[in-house]
Amino acid sequence: MRIHNVLAITGLSFLLLSPLSYAAESAKTFYTNRCQGCHGPDGKGSPTMAKALQVAIPDLTTKEMGKKPGAEILEALSKGKGKMPAATGLSDKELKDLVAHVKSLSKGK
Ligand code: HEC
Repeated sequence: MRIHNVLAITGLSFLLLSPLSYAAESAKTFYTNRCQGCHGPDGKGSPTMAKALQVAIPDLTTKEMGKKPGAEILEALSKGKGKMPAATGLSDKELKDLVAHVKSLSKGK
């Protein structure tokens, strides 16, 4: 009985919250799954991964990165850049949301 209540409440809050935050949430989840390994949870870059790949991983939280045109980020993500693989399997909309997420990492700088 109890578990059903928990499930009902969780389901309900998901329904209530999801229309507003779905796009941002899915881009965030995608970032966690596909980008964080190299760029780190906060976008500052993973030193371990940089060493393993023998490459400089750019800090995504800098002011300069925040100023980078969205089109340029989109291009890098959809085609890949240097040792970064392309972010495949995303719709145009999802790619745009991901660019917005990348931009949000440098917000306020
Ligand atoms: C295998 C490690 C790796 C993964 C996974 C990865 N990146 Fe990168 N990323 C890099 C490296 C290395 C560069 C520097 C590329 C260069 O300039 O040669 C880079 C560059 C970038 C840049 C700067 C692009 C530019 O125009 O200078 C952005 C933004 C970025 N990554 C976002 C992401 C996002 C978002 C994801 C997830 C979809 C991701 N990266 C996944 C390694 C990675």
